[in-house]
Formats: sequence, structure tokens, C-alpha cells
Amino acid sequence: MPKTGLEHDNLYQKYERDATGWKVLRNGFVHESDKIEKAVKLVGKDGLLRYDQSKIRVTLFGLGRIGTVWIERILRNPRLQLVYCVEPCVERANYFEYMYNLKDVKMIHPNSQDEVFSDPDVDAVIIGTPTSSHEYLVLKSINSGKAVMCEKPLADKLESVDKIFKLAIQRNLPFLTAMNRRFDPSFRSIRKRVKKGEIGKVHIIKTTHRDHPGHPASYLKGSAGIFLDSAIHDIDLVCWVIGEYPVTVIASGSAFDEEIGAMGDYDTVVIVLKFPSGAMGTIDVTRSSAYGYDERLEVFGSLGMLTGPSVRPTYVTLDSESGSTTVPYHYNHISRFAESYTNELEHFVDCIKGLKEVEVKPMEVMAATKIAQACKESARTGRPFELTWKESWSYSRNNEE
Ligand SMILES: NC(=O)c1ccc[n+]([C@@H]2O[C@H](COP(=O)([O-])OP(=O)(O)OC[C@H]3O[C@@H](n4cnc5c(N)ncnc54)[C@H](O)[C@@H]3O)[C@@H](O)[C@H]2O)c1
Repeated sequence: MPKTGLEHDNLYQKYERDATGWKVLRNGFVHESDKIEKAVKLVGKDGLLRYDQSKIRVTLFGLGRIGTVWIERILRNPRLQLVYCVEPCVERANYFEYMYNLKDVKMIHPNSQDEVFSDPDVDAVIIGTPTSSHEYLVLKSINSGKAVMCEKPLADKLESVDKIFKLAIQRNLPFLTAMNRRFDPSFRSIRKRVKKGEIGKVHIIKTTHRDHPGHPASYLKGSAGIFLDSAIHDIDLVCWVIGEYPVTVIASGSAFDEEIGAMGDYDTVVIVLKFPSGAMGTIDVTRSSAYGYDERLEVFGSLGMLTGPSVRPTYVTLDSESGSTTVPYHYNHISRFAESYTNELEHFVDCIKGLKEVEVKPMEVMAATKIAQACKESARTGRPFELTWKESWSYSRNNEE
């Protein structure tokens, strides 16, 4: 069997020749179509190959920026059938209908959304609407018996997040909070290797998250603020990678953009976290960066360091007598995390099909919300915030790690 020589790195594919030809054993970087083919392939007891042709009928709420991410993936996924789109903006709905040739999809205004909830043929909903609408739409969807994937943050209040999880568990429905960073191949690999102990005891974990190209004021106003809207990705990532929740949080923020300052929000924040093991975390987030979308993760431990560097669309460099140049980082989260979004949707589908358990656990989402709120309070008061983790958020159905 040919070897890559990098046994420990699951981003490399290993192949084994079997009777049917080359077979992928590890699939960290397999092309999407290969993953999908694998997912729908069923080998019956008779040994014959069949394909799972049953489709999950799905509704997409919100045809904004994240709606574009989801519609493109829903339409090319053979396990899904898009049946409704719900969007209040007529121009946006018309554009999607034309752009994606949605002749067989019912385009609905939110005033008529009860049609979706009462349609027994809708199996699942994907919610990509402004944050303030999440709680209502999620509760309504679960109460109507739909599986749900909802964008982060679920809500800005812990009580609301708690209510959502309790209902999802009570109704025994798959519910995925779209913590998209967890599905990035590099970040997943780092977590796996930290868990395996490759860098020994973790001393420092840090993320840098520089958004590009900035957000419209209308979005920022309804976003719940930089900590709950943006830093929550990094907070969740850091806790998930090292497997701990912080006991102390301190955060600070500045608004270099006057419009953002006038909203009472920040465009640039720094967070310091102290974990029970002694490990420390730093997170810095900016709402916009001049040079592109820059997201990095680094974990430093007693035996070494794991780094997930920022990613460029290509790695072509130009060397000339005046120096060396390379292409800028990705334009936005949509291209930077293209593969994560695909993996995330596949995970949701696998959970609905009963092939996997939802990876983003209720307690983890509650914790990320609580930490983001503490950061907000720390930045406001200029004081560190002590956190305790003895709450009685007990979510049964084995969905805690
Ligand atoms: N996971 C990620 O990486 C990620 C990235 C971007 C945004 N988000 C989240 O996605 C959500 C939407 O963000 P966005 O950037 O797409 O915003 P956006 O403003 O671009 O799009 C929101 C869309 O929802 C529509 N809408 C408003 N109310 C609605 C309702 N009741 N029903 C249906 N549609 C409605 C709006 O008209 C708009 O088209 C936010 O919660 C945001 O935090 C997540």
C-alpha cells in the first residue's frame, strides 16, 4: 500500500487497492461529490449496491448572505429537496428564483409562513434570518415537528437558548446550531490532535478573527453585538478544541468606526480566558480588515504547537526584482469556510437520517452564549468576570459529551 509518510495527518488521503479499484480510506480532503456519493451509497445484505433515493424535504428561511450559502448547497445535495423559501424582501426572492431557477420551489412571504409549519411534507427547516427572529422560528418549527438547523447566535438570552434545547429534546428532533468553524477540516484536525496529546498539556490557545468586507449597518444593528454575533464562533471553537470552559473572562473593545460606536457596539475586541487547567486563551476579533478574511487558530502546549493558519484562495506567489507577492486572503466567510458549510450541511442531513448524533451539544451552545454575555459585560464595566459551571442545565437524551 502506498504511504504518504504523514500517517498522523488526516488531511492526506491514504489509498488501498482492493478488488473494486482504489478506495479512499481517510477522507479529510475528498472532493464533495465523493463524499455525497459515499453518503447515499447503500450496500444491501445481498451485497448489491443501491442508492438511498429518499429525499429530505427542506424549507429555507432567509435569502440573505448566509441564505446564499445554504441554497447553493441544498440544491446540489441529492439527499435534499428544497420545497419552500421564506423571505420578506420581494426583490431578493425574485433574484433567487431567477438565479437558481427555483420553478418548483414555493416562494413565501413570512406573513404566510404558517403554510410551511402546517405542511406535513416539510421534514426540516434551515434558518438563516436575522438573529432576533431565531427563537420564534425555531420554537415554531420544532413544535411543528421539523428538524432544524439554525444560525448562530440562537438568541441573545440564555433563557431563550435553554427553552429551545429543552423543546428540541422533549420533541426528540434533530437540532443543529450552526457553529460553522467546527466543520473546518484544519480546526477539526487540530482538535483531534490536541485530544490525542500530540502537543502535551495545553498552555495557550489563541484565535484571530478578522472579518471582511465589513457589514451593512442594518445587519449590525440587529446582530446582538460583536461578542454574541461574531466572537461566539471563536469562543465556541476555543472551548471545543481544549474541552474546558473558562473560569475567568476579561474583554475589552473599541469602536474605530463611528457608526458602530453610535450603536453602542465595538468593531474591535480582545478577550482573555483562563481555564481550570491553567490554560489561557486569547481571542481578537475585528469587524473588518483591509486585507481580506483572516481567521487563525494556534494551540501551544508542553510538547509543541499546532497552527491552523489563515487560508488564501490560491498559493501562487510572484517573485520579482521588487520583492515577492501573493494573492490576498479570502474575500469573505463564504469563500473561506466553503468546505465547512458543506460539511455542516452534510452533518445535519446525517443527523436527520439517524446516521450521526448532533455534534454541537446543548451545553456547549449554552456555555458559548454565557461566555459571550460575560465578555460583553466585562467590556462594558472594565472588570474581569468570574464564571461558574455548576448550573443545572441538564439535557438528557445522551446529547452531552
Ligand atoms: N455561521 C456563519 O458563518 C454565519 C455567517 C453569516 C451570518 N450568520 C448568521 O445568519 C443570520 C443571517 O445573517 P445574514 O448575514 O445572512 O443576514 P442578511 O441580512 O444578509 O440576510 C437575512 C435575510 O433574512 C430575511 N428575513 C428577515 N426576516 C425574515 C423572516 N422573518 N423570515 C424569513 N426571512 C427573513 C431578510 O430579508 C434577509 O434577506 C444571522 O443570525 C447571522 O448571525 C452566520
